[in-house]
Amino acid sequence: MDPAGLIPAADSIPIAAGWFRLLLSASFILHLLAMNVMLGGAMIALAQAVKGAGQQGALSPEHAIAAKLPFTIALTVNLGVPPLLFLQVLYGNLLYTSAVVMAAWWLSIFLLAMAAYYAAYVYDFKFAVLGWVRTLVIGLAVLCLLVVAFVFSNSMTLMLKPPAWTAYFGNPHGTHWNLAEPTLWPRYLHFVLASLAVGGLGLAGLGSWRRRRGDTGGKELVRVGLDWFIWGTLAQMAAGLWFLLSLPQEIMLLFLGGSGPHTALLWLGVAMGVSALVLASKSRVPLALAATMATVVLMALTRDLLRSAYLKPFFDPESLTVTGQASPALVFLAALIVGSILIFWLLRLAVGAGKES
Ligand code: HEM
Repeated sequence: MDPAGLIPAADSIPIAAGWFRLLLSASFILHLLAMNVMLGGAMIALAQAVKGAGQQGALSPEHAIAAKLPFTIALTVNLGVPPLLFLQVLYGNLLYTSAVVMAAWWLSIFLLAMAAYYAAYVYDFKFAVLGWVRTLVIGLAVLCLLVVAFVFSNSMTLMLKPPAWTAYFGNPHGTHWNLAEPTLWPRYLHFVLASLAVGGLGLAGLGSWRRRRGDTGGKELVRVGLDWFIWGTLAQMAAGLWFLLSLPQEIMLLFLGGSGPHTALLWLGVAMGVSALVLASKSRVPLALAATMATVVLMALTRDLLRSAYLKPFFDPESLTVTGQASPALVFLAALIVGSILIFWLLRLAVGAGKES
């Protein structure tokens, strides 16, 4: 069977594919940053809970994370919608087909995200009274979030390989995992460890902000957060190397000098990551935050090039028919600008309310 025959015909798009690719990358970067802070924060809270189950006080890093966790889950879920829409526009024929092969897991994402959200609220609101049960509650939230991330890594790797979709003929129940994919585990580990690092840095950022406001607990948050960032980054660099080595040889070589843009983006990202590490080891939190954000942006762009390299034999969104109807795009742009202003205003209100309380 010719695997290309499994790919459904693609729809036309209103404006050039490049615009959607830009919007996809930009919105995915926001989703990724929020996801990193959420998952990393939850894992750090779990580790803190295990370390001192039931004894963490109101100024502890665990309590600081508990108060922010529901907010980061809401942000991650909402920021997941725009990349999902843009991904559908460009790669809908690949995304949907591969999603059918693992439909049961795909549909479970929303149940798992809701369960994690609920657990995070209980963890926050009942923090003081839960005692040792708190460890179980945050453990449940972490487990749900880790499974969601695993479903995404399965889905994102499955959509890149139409030949793997033939698994459907052996298992039409939608319960297929893409476990035969050599990049699956290193890719997943790379995301999870990056989350630990970014979550740690987020905690250090919160501590640094509190310290400047004269809060006594701020110093401890910076210390704990930077420790997680440094160890998380070192481990995640090893996972990144494993990920690179697990790629098909012709694709791996693109990132090792075979193609200028591929090589430049990846290694610039690595260099930024190393700078963030050095800055964090000197406790320069704001600068480490800036370098980490630059690393995330460069890595997300590298991931986009990786997707194109995988799909080259099968599909290129540049080949989609462009209808040239700019008016929906203009309405979208207007809504985006007004929406962004409103969100910015809302966030300022939320921060203001936090300061007052
Ligand atoms: C709340 C828990 C969530 C976690 C832990 C999570 C985690 C992840 C991870 C790890 C990836 C990258 C996977 C890979 O490339 O291997 C990813 C990608 C993605 N996520 Fe999320 N996610 C969550 C929620 C959501 C939700 C609710 C949506 C949609 C409404 C969403 C939309 C997406 C999309 C569209 C991508 C792929 C973007 C692209 O390929 O450019 N996520 N997510």
